[in-house]
Amino acid sequence: MDKKSQINLEKLPRHIAIIMDGNGRWAKERGMARVFGHRNGVKAVREATESAAELGVEYLTLYAFSTENWNRPEMEVNALMALLVDTIKKEIKTLNDNSIRLQTIGDIFKLPEKSRKALLKAIEDTSHNTRMTLVLALNYSAKWDITEAARKLAIQVKRGSLQPEDVNEDVFSNALATAGMPDPELLIRTSGEARISNFLLWQIAYAELYFTPTLWPDFRKEHLYDAIINFQHRERRFGKTSEQLTGS
Ligand code: IPE
Ligand code: IPE
Ligand code: MG
Repeated sequence: MDKKSQINLEKLPRHIAIIMDGNGRWAKERGMARVFGHRNGVKAVREATESAAELGVEYLTLYAFSTENWNRPEMEVNALMALLVDTIKKEIKTLNDNSIRLQTIGDIFKLPEKSRKALLKAIEDTSHNTRMTLVLALNYSAKWDITEAARKLAIQVKRGSLQPEDVNEDVFSNALATAGMPDPELLIRTSGEARISNFLLWQIAYAELYFTPTLWPDFRKEHLYDAIINFQHRERRFGKTSEQLTGS
């Protein structure tokens, strides 16, 4: 049986998040500069996006650039930003052909103007699409997200439009960059690292974590199917006992 047909389409995660990692090592293995790895990661982005949309996943969030990634060599940061503009421009048509809406989370106002403009245009040009939402996490970190949410709520309290006793989990969730999106049920990280690297800390409170040694530029549709099949074999207990869930 091929991998795709092993997936139970009734039990798909509504939201999958991916920490795309390992581009640098992929390039190094080939004796090439790190940027070569980033360029080859674009195909993996396309494969993950297409396969998630084909299956019927509603949200796919890709960690593309963290607030910490500014600390990389300037040449690499510049190359990543240029690749972002280039890829976005090239992919708008494919996104529209597949009815995929683009959104971002992160402080995009700190991105170079060219990157920000290309991004805002792509968001606008794909805003009518309904099949899947592709969320690019750009200049994102979870601590930034949570701090911004706290600041927004503090401003509302100061203005008198929110009472402190009305702050609850729903209000807080709606102040985050992911407002309106379901929390990711499956978080994938490639390249063998088993850490979260400041990604979606609040939102992954109950996500299933899946770590694969595959380096991001090698990630193909089958790898996404593997992750989903693995997810579907887990028992998600949400604090309950296994017996409560199975009735045994
Ligand atoms: C992920 O690959 C891409 C970004 C963080 C932008 P890396 O560039 O982190 O690759 P490794 O981890 O050094 O191999
Ligand atoms: C996490 O990868 C950020 C992105 C995938 C964009 P990194 O490669 O930057 O993470 P660390 O530094 O190894 O934790
Ligand atoms: Mg890395």
